Amino acid sequence: MLILGIESSCDETAASVCEFLENGERRILSNAVASQIEIHRLYGGVVPEIAGRAHSEAICPIVTEALEKAGKTVNDIDVIGVTSTPGLIGALLVGVSFAKSLAYSTGKPLVAVNHIKGHVAANYFCFPDLKPPFLAAVVSGGHTSIIKVNSFTDFERIGRTRDDAAGEAFDKVGRVMGLYYPCGAEMDKLASAGNAKAYKFPSAAIGDDTLDFSFSGLKTAVLNTLNGLSQKGLDYKKEDVAASFTESFTSSVAKKLEEALHRTGLNTLVLAGGVSANSHLRRALEDMCKKNNVRFCCPPLSLCGDNGAMIAAQAYFEYLDGNISGIDLNAQA
Ligand code: KG4
Ligand code: ZN
Repeated sequence: MLILGIESSCDETAASVCEFLENGERRILSNAVASQIEIHRLYGGVVPEIAGRAHSEAICPIVTEALEKAGKTVNDIDVIGVTSTPGLIGALLVGVSFAKSLAYSTGKPLVAVNHIKGHVAANYFCFPDLKPPFLAAVVSGGHTSIIKVNSFTDFERIGRTRDDAAGEAFDKVGRVMGLYYPCGAEMDKLASAGNAKAYKFPSAAIGDDTLDFSFSGLKTAVLNTLNGLSQKGLDYKKEDVAASFTESFTSSVAKKLEEALHRTGLNTLVLAGGVSANSHLRRALEDMCKKNNVRFCCPPLSLCGDNGAMIAAQAYFEYLDGNISGIDLNAQA
């Protein structure tokens, strides 16, 4: 089965053609992404109105590119999958409207995909034997959730951030240190060269009775420290701030995920979302899983950020479950 996956929830317009064989094999034939990062960098973050317009310009060329790179035409496609929620409404609407038009004009089935489920589904390409139930941690620019994945389509959120998302915290701390948006990858590199014990920042793992996080306290503590230093005319090493922030971030996430594994009794942990590219987080979770005799899965760096292949993968399982959308499908912010 050939699936065209379309993604436009935030600042990447992406399309991918993937093949799902009856023997369980899953192949990415193309994975085209048009990133808007350069446009939004000027403003230090995503400007929703500009994102929507840029998606409108990129959607036709990117779907064409995905089909061409896969050596297919739209007639070869069996199912059209599209991110319908969550995300920026003006951005989502572009992908959803395009996918609906394409499905209507070609008579192909249309499948709505939840972006968070899509991030988790990116793992199915590199771990063909991965099957629910498992525990998933989705850490991205817009979300931080601990999810009990009961089946390929049934997700139960058991923990979440109560304020900022993980990626948002990385981006805000980076921005105050003068890094370019999005700051996650640069923060990752700086942290590798810094002293994680230079500053003691608070944990984001709030209370013992909940699996929720609060990243805003951690973020504010870093910003206050930097403001305090600059008021005293003192300099600081960006590497040390990045390393100390990352240490607090990774230990908070590892602590809550360890607790979630104990509570659920699940023996597989799947990491997903843009922040899953963080080398320190990957290492910390790998160690925690090893200690607890738990299998650890995370996607290759190329599938951590937003892409169309992850949407095609989730669309495949939604389609098998009979979750087909009508032409009245709408985007939800
Ligand atoms: O999943 P994603 O591409 O978009 C959303 O769905 O939000 O995630 C983007 C986020 C940004 O905040 C970016 O700074 C962060 O992922 N990110 C990282 C790294 N690479 C990307 N954060 C920490 N370390 C990284 N290596
Ligand atoms: Zn995402």
